Parts: sequence; structure tokens; C-alpha cells
Amino acid sequence: MFHKFYCFLIILSAIAFPIAADAGIGPDQEDLKERLGGAIYRDLTLSINENMACMTCHHPSAGFADPKNRIFPEWFPVSQGSIPTLYGGRNAPMSAYAGFSPIFHYDQTNSVFTGGLFWDGRASGRPDYTATGTLGSGPTGDPLADQAKGPPGNPVEMGLTFENTELTTEAAVVGIIERSSYAKLFKKVFGQDAFADVKVAYNNASLALAAFERSSAVTKFNSKFDKFVKEQGGDVSSFGVITITIQDETFRKYVGPPKHFKSRYFSYDEADGLAIFNADSYTQRNLKQDPDNENGGQCYRCHLTQNHVVAKNDPNIPTNGPRPGTYNPLLTDFTFDNLGIPVNPQIAKLAGPQSTDNGLGAQTELLKYACPGCDPKLELGKFKVSSLRNISRTAPYGHNGYFATMYDIVHFYNTRDTGKGIWPDPEVSDNVNKVEMGNLGLTLKQELKVVKFLNTLDD
Ligand code: HEC
Ligand code: HEC
Repeated sequence: MFHKFYCFLIILSAIAFPIAADAGIGPDQEDLKERLGGAIYRDLTLSINENMACMTCHHPSAGFADPKNRIFPEWFPVSQGSIPTLYGGRNAPMSAYAGFSPIFHYDQTNSVFTGGLFWDGRASGRPDYTATGTLGSGPTGDPLADQAKGPPGNPVEMGLTFENTELTTEAAVVGIIERSSYAKLFKKVFGQDAFADVKVAYNNASLALAAFERSSAVTKFNSKFDKFVKEQGGDVSSFGVITITIQDETFRKYVGPPKHFKSRYFSYDEADGLAIFNADSYTQRNLKQDPDNENGGQCYRCHLTQNHVVAKNDPNIPTNGPRPGTYNPLLTDFTFDNLGIPVNPQIAKLAGPQSTDNGLGAQTELLKYACPGCDPKLELGKFKVSSLRNISRTAPYGHNGYFATMYDIVHFYNTRDTGKGIWPDPEVSDNVNKVEMGNLGLTLKQELKVVKFLNTLDD
């Protein structure tokens, strides 16, 4: 039995992490770096009880989020630590596609904070800024690598913290890597004296993790949705809608999939779900609705369905970030919003009493740094707009996992402000977005079609 299981594991990991193809002259430095990052990503010994790797909470079977949360979304909205009695306070997002997030900055054109990683953007990637709590090895200049520096030393995650001793998290991690089976690979990528300076080595390990997470083994772009985008000529941002003007306002009117709609990839309902996702709502915007006009979900406003462009020489794209070019939609605009999600009482049951989670608004130091003139109070309760890729596998939903199913969160967007009293009050009542959501006027059938569309986004 053991034998069979072992074979199964090998096959599974080979599918999950194909090693870059050898192009005849051997893998290049970038391939090696990705391979190294994969080895670190899977290393269980990088935790206090040698039972937890990055992959434990960001596993391919759960769309690179936490498989245990996926299976028991009501009971385990948050991840268990290496020390099994400890739990975190937020839902684990996927580690895939995260590498597109720009460096945290204030977007002057749209007057909004943008980018960074974690639900509150605190892994900023700013080369000029060392956040409170950042390990001593200093910024990496990449949000994804800054992020990767956190989990090993987080007591409720990998738990490599050593109170009252000289040992630091960085030294422990670098020591483990130096004694690992992939130490040679580390030297091949970062040079023969790669372990000489602990701080440099720690940052390099994080950069290798980032390279792996950006690689096609993790960030795949091979969902049914991606195939549909290609089939539709490479752009679905206006699929099923037309832009009109009502009462002097621009409005994306739902028209639905074209007559005689045919696709090799999408069913009619999935395509209709995309049309609803792409359309505005009369009800939400208090506009006069003809009886035959259907509302839309307005989802595209934050979860962008237009292709993602990485411009050349964009100062907010880290140098080791995605190559300039056009990518299929990422379904996020990297900004922050307060959806008015209620407290999830299950978190306190697992992790103990929780203080109010103010999200981006609690990152006052970072906010002041990125925009000295801005008022951090205007960011209270805001969390990063999620990419919806792999969404059907990453239950539960929202930063605190309040919603166990995709249907629940869609129903919340649709009915939060309808006064029917089914939703408890928001955890943070400041800055709740009431303009774009809360009373969409979607029918039950439409809600279900949106969910069908969300199901097409899995790699
Ligand atoms: C115990 C579970 C756990 C482990 C282990 C873990 N993570 Fe996470 N990860 C989380 C949680 C929870 C968050 C969200 C925390 C927050 O936003 O404050 C997160 C956030 C992230 C994000 C940010 C995604 C986004 O969209 O903002 C990335 C990327 C990531 N983790 C990668 C990693 C890597 C790389 C490792 C290993 C070095 C790792 N994680 C280890 C639970 C875990
Ligand atoms: C005003 C911007 C905005 C609009 C419009 C919007 N969303 Fe979101 N969405 C967000 C933000 C911000 C989050 C994360 C919020 C949090 O967890 O506190 C999110 C989270 C989600 C999640 C959970 C993601 C996860 O990984 O847990 C789903 C699913 C989702 N949105 C679907 C939709 C759908 C479907 C629509 C249209 C009916 C929609 N959104 C409209 C901003 C928006």
C-alpha cells in the first residue's frame, strides 16, 4: 500500500510542478531559480515541527489556497499553524497569480491605493520602505518576495521564532536550506558563497519562491475561461453588454450572449454569467429600468475582465516581476474596498478573541509613507480586491472566510442593502461601498449563472 501511495504522490507532484523543459543547452538561470523556489515551497522542515511548508496552506488541489479550509469552509475558515493549537486570523488567499500585483503605491490618477500583497497590502515591495515587523534582512523590491519572508517567522504559521535566544528566523531558515538536499542548487543559482551572508541569502530564498510562484507551474492561464477568451478573439471585456448613456450617465447595458451563441468551451449559462458579470445594474444605480432590461452584477468594475497590460518601464512593476506584455484578465484591479463583511465568529473559536480587523486602514505607517497627504481613516475596513482565478477551489470566501460558498458571497453582493435583515452588520462600518454593490436587483437565476461563470476560472 505504501508503495502505491508513494507512486501516486510522485505522479501528483510531477503533474503539479512540471520541471521546465530542457531546451537542449540545459535549463537557464531562470528555470533553475524557479526549480529552487519549488523545492523551498515544498520543504516541510522549514517549520518548527517540521510538518508545514508553504504548500501546506497553498496547495494546487485547492487552487493554491488551503485544502483544509476548502473541505471544511464553515469550520476552518483560517489555517492551522505548525503548532497545531494555533490558528491565524485571516483566510489564506491563493499564491498563484499574486505575482502580478504592482508595488504598493498611491495611484494619483484614480486617487486610490493600489498593489502590495496580503489582504491589507502590507507586503509592499517598496524598495525604499521597511515596514514595521519586516524581518531584519530588509526590503526585496518585490511584493511577492516581501510576502514570502513572512510565513517562516510567523508564530501561527511556520513558527520559526526563537524567543530569548540569539537565533533569528533568517538564520534558522538559511541554515535549514544550507543543510538541505537542494543546497547545491541554491549555490548554482546564487553563487558559491550564497550562504555567506544570512540576510542576503534569506532575501534570495524569498526571490526564488517568488520566481516559482510566477512560473507556469503555478500561474498557468489554462482555465476554461482562458480558452474562451482566445476563442472570442482575445477580448471579453464587453462580452454580452453594450455601452449606452442614460440620464447623462455611461451605462453598460446587459444584452446577453449573441444570438445563435456557440462555443467549444462555455455553455450558454456560463456565457450569460459573464454577460451579467460585465453589466451594470439599474437598481443599484437608481436608474429607470425598462421592463425588458435585465440588471447586471457590476462585478467587472473591480474584478476586471479587460486584458491585463504590463507596460514597459512601469516604475510600479518590480524588476523581477512579470515581463511587459498583454495577459488574459486577472479579475482584479489591485485596489482595496470595504464590502461590509460581518465578523466571522468561527475565527474566535479557533484563534481566540480577535480585535476588529481594519485591513488596509490599520497600515497607517505604510499609508503615510505612500501618500503623506492622505487620511488613513478613509482606508479603514478595506481589503484587497481578490483575483477570482481558481475561485471554485479556494473556499471559503472573503478575508475572514465569512462565506462558505460562492453562492453566499454573490447573494451578499446582491442583497446586502435590501433591508431584508438577513445579513449581520459589517465588522467595520466606515467606508462601506454602497455605491457599487448591495442592491443589484439580480434574480435567483442570474445569481446562479454568475456562479456558473465563476466555475470556469479554474486552471
Ligand atoms: C499556515 C498557513 C500558511 C502558510 C504555511 C503559508 N501561508 Fe501564505 N498565506 C496564508 C494566509 C492566512 C495569508 C493571508 C494573510 C494576510 O493577508 O494577512 C497568506 C498570504 C499569502 C500570499 C498573498 C496572496 C495575496 O493575494 O495577497 C502569498 C503569495 C503567500 N501567502 C505565499 C506563501 C508562501 C510563499 C509561503 C511559504 C514561505 C506561505 N505563503 C506560507 C497562510 C499561509
Ligand atoms: C467595488 C469593488 C468590487 C465589486 C464591484 C465586486 N467585488 Fe468581489 N471583491 C472585492 C473585494 C475588495 C474583495 C475582498 C474583500 C474582503 O474579503 O474583505 C472581493 C472578494 C470577492 C470574492 C471572494 C474572493 C476570495 O478569494 O475570497 C468573490 C467570489 C467575489 N468578490 C466575487 C464578486 C462578484 C461575483 C461580483 C459581482 C456580483 C463582485 N465580486 C463585485 C471587490 C469588489
